Amino acid sequence: MKIAAIAGSLTPLSKTLLTVKEAVGHIRRHHDHVEVNLINLKEYQLDFCDGRDPSEYEGDSKKIIKEIVEADALIVGTPIYRGSIPGALKNVFDLIPNTALKGKVLAFIATGGSYHHFLAIEHQLKPLAGYFKAYTLPGNVYAHNDHFQNKQLTDEGIKQRLHELSDSVVTLSKSLDSKVIGAEQPVIPRQSLAQT
Ligand SMILES: Cc1cc2nc3c(=O)[nH]c(=O)nc-3n(C[C@H](O)[C@H](O)[C@H](O)COP(=O)(O)O)c2cc1C
Repeated sequence: MKIAAIAGSLTPLSKTLLTVKEAVGHIRRHHDHVEVNLINLKEYQLDFCDGRDPSEYEGDSKKIIKEIVEADALIVGTPIYRGSIPGALKNVFDLIPNTALKGKVLAFIATGGSYHHFLAIEHQLKPLAGYFKAYTLPGNVYAHNDHFQNKQLTDEGIKQRLHELSDSVVTLSKSLDSKVIGAEQPVIPRQSLAQT
């Protein structure tokens, strides 16, 4: 099984990256048979999605599309920006093919400056998963500033929950048949006027 773990912040010393690394480390220590690929968005020079077919991108855009398409399950970590996700991470969801996440398990981790924005996972990220016909873990992890000290994730409760989330991604993904999604999604054309 392959898991792609996306840390969706462009910030140096990212808190989101620390949380995603905690989840990745746990999977590497406890699930030998799982290959987990950490995708730190800050290390990718991505094109903005311009409507072309996903197969036409080159460079890092092509690379990230391939890594996501080839994953069986995903962990998506995001900082909360304006009560939602940063544009840089939304762009990743715009770049990938419509079928890239179909029937796959997605687990969400968010970090915010405030105590208040944990529900952004429910109303910003889960609808995206719904669009892609992906399964989502019912339980997410939201970490805020008090959970970090000296540039480290220090809160043991959050670490424990990240471990539970990681185990659950593996367990749920193993037990699901990714072809069983209910109804197929309608084909959504990307065609622009330039292509007509
Ligand atoms: C442009 C911008 C918008 C933000 N908006 C929110 C917000 O709406 N709610 C919140 O709780 N924190 C907000 N924050 C704080 C970040 O979510 C928080 O510091 C987060 O942990 C940053 O993650 P990172 O270190 O991985 O970049 C915002 C930060 C920035 C830079």
